[in-house]
Amino acid sequence: MRNFTCVQDLGDLKQALNEAFEIKKDRFQFTELGKNKTLLMIFFNSSLRTRLSTQKAAMNLGMNTMVLDVNQGAWKLETERGVIMDGDKPEHLLEAIPVMGCYCDIIGVRSFARFESKEDDYNEKILNQFVQYSGRPVFSMEAATRHPLQSFADLITIEEYKKTARPKVVMTWAPHPKPLPQAVPNSFAEWMNATDYEFVITHPEGYELNSKFVGNAHVEYDQRKAFEGADFIYAKNWSAYNDPNYGKVINMDRSWTVDAEKMALTNNAYFMHCLPVRRNMIVTDDVIESPQSIVIPEAANREISAETVLKKILAGL
Ligand code: CP
Repeated sequence: MRNFTCVQDLGDLKQALNEAFEIKKDRFQFTELGKNKTLLMIFFNSSLRTRLSTQKAAMNLGMNTMVLDVNQGAWKLETERGVIMDGDKPEHLLEAIPVMGCYCDIIGVRSFARFESKEDDYNEKILNQFVQYSGRPVFSMEAATRHPLQSFADLITIEEYKKTARPKVVMTWAPHPKPLPQAVPNSFAEWMNATDYEFVITHPEGYELNSKFVGNAHVEYDQRKAFEGADFIYAKNWSAYNDPNYGKVINMDRSWTVDAEKMALTNNAYFMHCLPVRRNMIVTDDVIESPQSIVIPEAANREISAETVLKKILAGL
């Protein structure tokens, strides 16, 4: 595997899951693979889990790691070609990317949707420039339209906790005060569609996701109906995708908050969220603190998904 930006890059998903479970049994069994190899992690946006879990995964594989927060200490980067650079950005991404590539063997990039241009966001303008110009394998640490390391960890977690071969997984929109990208729900949908699970998406009208990611999912506008018989509830906020509301909050209806009364409609479902989560907006305290909440094991599996992906990229160097 050279680059990792979506589920298809992993190849056979069952095989990748088996590799992940092998790594989980002994996460230090491949320490020779990354010896004298350097991972550069580039963050255009904040992170807790991705930063720590990916660095830990690289260390498990014997790699050296470097972390660059582009907005803290690096030169401010111009991203548009043709701009007369007489403003506050002294360096262009088109020089910065190949320079970064000189100092490492693999590059991880976090670059969220900017909501300035839907076309640029959905063409993954920043991530694809790293793929094109760095000369190194590149993996997404959450880009504009997908968060594949998160989705892989989500899938590992569901496989560990499921009680039936074909669980009912429900992804529900929940309210949030700020406009969030669609990367996590897009990606989760893409990965769920790559399984044979029963997959349902529920959200208020106006929050429809790009049909490419919705795929074969059943879309149910009645949240309570969607929750009936669910084995897993995956909560997430996202901003509107459809024009003219792209990137906007069009509804903060707290009747969509995941609470105990709605969880009682499920098949004693597990509660999942990628974190960070706003309590009592997305989910009530009692649900996230309940024995059915698996948000911490889900976050712990970020180390496993990252290590599996890095191992596959290292094997291809
Ligand atoms: N879930 C996730 O990616 O967390 P961070 O934004 O903290 O990395």
